[in-house]
Amino acid sequence: MLKKLVFFFVFFIFSCPLFAQNPNDEEKKVFIDNLLSKMTIKEKVGQLRLISVGGDLTLDKVLDQIEAGEIGGIFNTVVEPDLSRMQERALKSPNKIPVYFGFDIVHGHRTVFPINLGLAATWDRNAFAKVAEVSADEATSDGLNVTWAPMVDITRDPRWGRVSEGFGEDPYLASEAGRIFVEKMQKQSLADKKSLVTTVKHFALYGAVEAGREYNSTDMSERKMFQEYLVPYKAAIDAGSRAVMVALVSVNGIPATANHWLLTDVLRNQWHFDGVVVSDHGAIRELINHGVATDAKDAVRIAIKAGIDVSMNDEYFLQFLPELVDEGAISEDLINQACRHVLELKYDMGLFKNPHRNLDPNFDIETMFANDRLHRTEARDVARRSIVLLKNENNLLPLDKNKKIAVIGPLADSKRDILGSWSGAGRANLAVTPLQGIKNAIANPKLVSYAWGANLSDDPNLDKFLNLYGESSKFDKRPANKMIAEAVAQAKKSDVVVVFVGEAQGMAHESSSRTDLNLQASQKRLIKALKATGKPLIIALMNGRPLTVKEEYQQADAMLETWFLGTEGGNAVADVLFGDYNPSAKLPMSFPDNVGQIPVYYSHLKTGRPHGTVNMGKYTTSYFDSPNEPLFPFGFGLSYTDFTIDFSLSKTEMSPNGEIEVIANVENTGEREGSQVVQFYLQDVTASVSRPVKELIGFESITLKPHEKGQVKFVIKYDMLKFWNDKMQYVAEPGKFNVFVGADSTTKDKQTFTLLDN
Ligand code: NOJ
Repeated sequence: MLKKLVFFFVFFIFSCPLFAQNPNDEEKKVFIDNLLSKMTIKEKVGQLRLISVGGDLTLDKVLDQIEAGEIGGIFNTVVEPDLSRMQERALKSPNKIPVYFGFDIVHGHRTVFPINLGLAATWDRNAFAKVAEVSADEATSDGLNVTWAPMVDITRDPRWGRVSEGFGEDPYLASEAGRIFVEKMQKQSLADKKSLVTTVKHFALYGAVEAGREYNSTDMSERKMFQEYLVPYKAAIDAGSRAVMVALVSVNGIPATANHWLLTDVLRNQWHFDGVVVSDHGAIRELINHGVATDAKDAVRIAIKAGIDVSMNDEYFLQFLPELVDEGAISEDLINQACRHVLELKYDMGLFKNPHRNLDPNFDIETMFANDRLHRTEARDVARRSIVLLKNENNLLPLDKNKKIAVIGPLADSKRDILGSWSGAGRANLAVTPLQGIKNAIANPKLVSYAWGANLSDDPNLDKFLNLYGESSKFDKRPANKMIAEAVAQAKKSDVVVVFVGEAQGMAHESSSRTDLNLQASQKRLIKALKATGKPLIIALMNGRPLTVKEEYQQADAMLETWFLGTEGGNAVADVLFGDYNPSAKLPMSFPDNVGQIPVYYSHLKTGRPHGTVNMGKYTTSYFDSPNEPLFPFGFGLSYTDFTIDFSLSKTEMSPNGEIEVIANVENTGEREGSQVVQFYLQDVTASVSRPVKELIGFESITLKPHEKGQVKFVIKYDMLKFWNDKMQYVAEPGKFNVFVGADSTTKDKQTFTLLDN
């Protein structure tokens, strides 16, 4: 009878032109309706549970729960044969529903690429695409099919350790990266065996935690949210991201996990997101700590009603959801709806047809790590594109390969640190350190000497804490002056000194907020001593956030920002040091002059009082003890050559259905081939609300030979002029707009056009 009914239903749907858009959707609906009708409430709740093996939950216990239909997805297990065993057991569960396998694939998987803040510095869409493609390729060969990425939280407070994971301060740049990650990881169809389902995170505003203190609250006007902070999540969702992870923090007083406005009104109703909403680790329990739930059961009720589908590392869904339905505190429809989101995802991934799509019981982990399986060429190329040249006095760089080089510092030879945080599936022993990379690059490795020079920090306890996430650089118990003396001796015997300083990877991670962004005292002493030798000094920063390095900037003859560059980092550093690659990267986040300026970002609003630099006089928007400007502005980065940029507009008036072409003429005026990222900013001069002094709306890279000229074109379209007006409508208002095109966000070169009424 049921079969007949189903047949009739399908026949009806297909014969009705209004509903006949996508036969697959109908097949899916019938399949899932049918499945749901057979599932008990416990089994439905099981689909909402995301579990990782660990602690009391041994593998055996997890396998039993899977077979009982109590688990929908697994995370944090990587590599056969455990994954295959889990899937086998899922296929023995009452309704034989396969599990999916998630992992934090944030900046590469087996091959580790630069941390995302470094990747963003490439301003290169091809680089974003390459990282996403390689990550998906390696992860799906490794049994996984869901990632907790991309992380697109806008970050303007470098005290927060997780700025390393995102794409920086700008909504447009972060949106481009997020969009490309989603497109290239998920691919055209989730059913593609190489498709990795993305989970855009952390929805929302996690990057705006007050005072940069981890897990602190966020509070922001709706205008700023919609205009800036929500933009990258929306871009990733519009690109098709099938999952969203919810922030651990509260948003305007209501924890995101309990925030119906955020998860249902905005995400589902305004943005029409129809994928899976996943809570973050422990977030449901934490609703009690936030003070919005009385106990665990209350927390479960609030979370599911707000719009959470899946409970990460679930402790309480299974315990309380069936009970809450029984008691009528929540409707079964809510569970059905959440379960449907998960089942639809599994259906679209093709898991029901091929539960083993990413599994291979003969998988050999060592083969995965074999050199020819790693994507070293791609990793090296992206890494060298991420390195920002911050200073190059008297063209000290690039270095001559015949010079004697002293390579100094606690980060010069640290294989673990160069991988950065969230690199759990990478292997430190396969990483190339800067010391190794420099030796690889030159014919006579004897020209290179090395000294540790200083511990990352004088405090052994701090050092231990910083390196919690994997044995990072060691703590050397020798007296500090002995280590410095050794480094100075090496420096004196050399022609040039390169010192690698900054942060351990554990310092720029989850739960690693700082109030002091200076280099640690141990490192500062080392630099001072090296400077005193009089040898040309190159300071290579290795870190996951903007640091306050004004003093070091003054001491250095040349300075590089190398972030945490990943598996091929050392070779990439050598490519830049010796000029085998001419640096082209640009900062995706302003580097403050001092912590007191934070947040300092380029796209601030205009103010009523003049905005200027230090000593502006009374009644101006300035500090009397600090400049307003950051040490390094957003978009800044030097090259071994020089460029000029001038530009013109095709028209000075634009109607709502018109367009204006922006033509930038770029010339390489130097003696080396190089690439310039041409940046395109807009300013709405007068509007119903105060608008930023500048907003990035486009960028393109151009590579030119010495003295070569080239052109970059942008098109201004009506939609680019829209913003959230005084009535919170997304509109463009007629009037004057300034266009800026240049090499960084401080460019003053401007042209003006008028948007007409009609
Ligand atoms: C907590 C982190 O906030 C989130 O980003 C991550 O994806 C999960 N843990 C899983 O590891």
